[in-house]
Amino acid sequence: MWDERYTGDKYIYGTEPNSFLAEHETMLRDPVLSLAEGEGRNAVFLASLGLKVHGVDGSEVGLAKAQALAKSKGVKIQTEVIDLGTFEPAESCYGSVVSISSHLPSAMRRRLYPLVERCLRTDGIILLEAYSEAQLARDTGGPKDPDMLMTPAKIEREFPNFEPVLLRELEREVSEGTYHTGLASVVQFIGKKKD
Ligand SMILES: C[S@@+](CC[C@H](N)C(=O)[O-])C[C@H]1O[C@@H](n2cnc3c(N)ncnc32)[C@H](O)[C@@H]1O
Repeated sequence: MWDERYTGDKYIYGTEPNSFLAEHETMLRDPVLSLAEGEGRNAVFLASLGLKVHGVDGSEVGLAKAQALAKSKGVKIQTEVIDLGTFEPAESCYGSVVSISSHLPSAMRRRLYPLVERCLRTDGIILLEAYSEAQLARDTGGPKDPDMLMTPAKIEREFPNFEPVLLRELEREVSEGTYHTGLASVVQFIGKKKD
């Protein structure tokens, strides 16, 4: 489904980074693992700041476009086609994990998120933005399955070993290409891995 959606020259989520990520980039530590990177807008932005980025996604087409975007901006990113349902990131390897609009079923999150914690170094940072369950009532993007949508309570439950630096649910104007446009309900989270 994602390969099909990404086929064509157009960057369907645009080439500008997610605004929550851009506003908080100074919190991030090197190197960065970016989950569900898609067409590369966030990885390329982070690489342009001098960070080393490993972007992973299930879509080969999306990641080929990510590499093309990186080339056009004169930066290097590492990309890898993986399934987040089976992905095993290397242990204690990353300074940060970024997860933007990576909406996964809860069973997949249950397996993946402890591995996300494990792949971070001490004091490592996770930065996540996802549509919230309140987004179900809107028509401005995101999955229609509540199981794939977040709430602050789900974040607290699913990242028990992180100190929340920021955790909030809010409405914001999203302008990120064809599929994510308009007033939206999102959950934003920045957490620091506890010792
Ligand atoms: C809404 S897009 C977001 C892309 C990117 N993070 C951004 O903000 O532009 C969701 C991404 O999740 C990826 N994805 C969904 N399920 C996945 C899975 N099980 N394994 C790997 N990638 C997955 C899709 O390929 C797609 O690129």
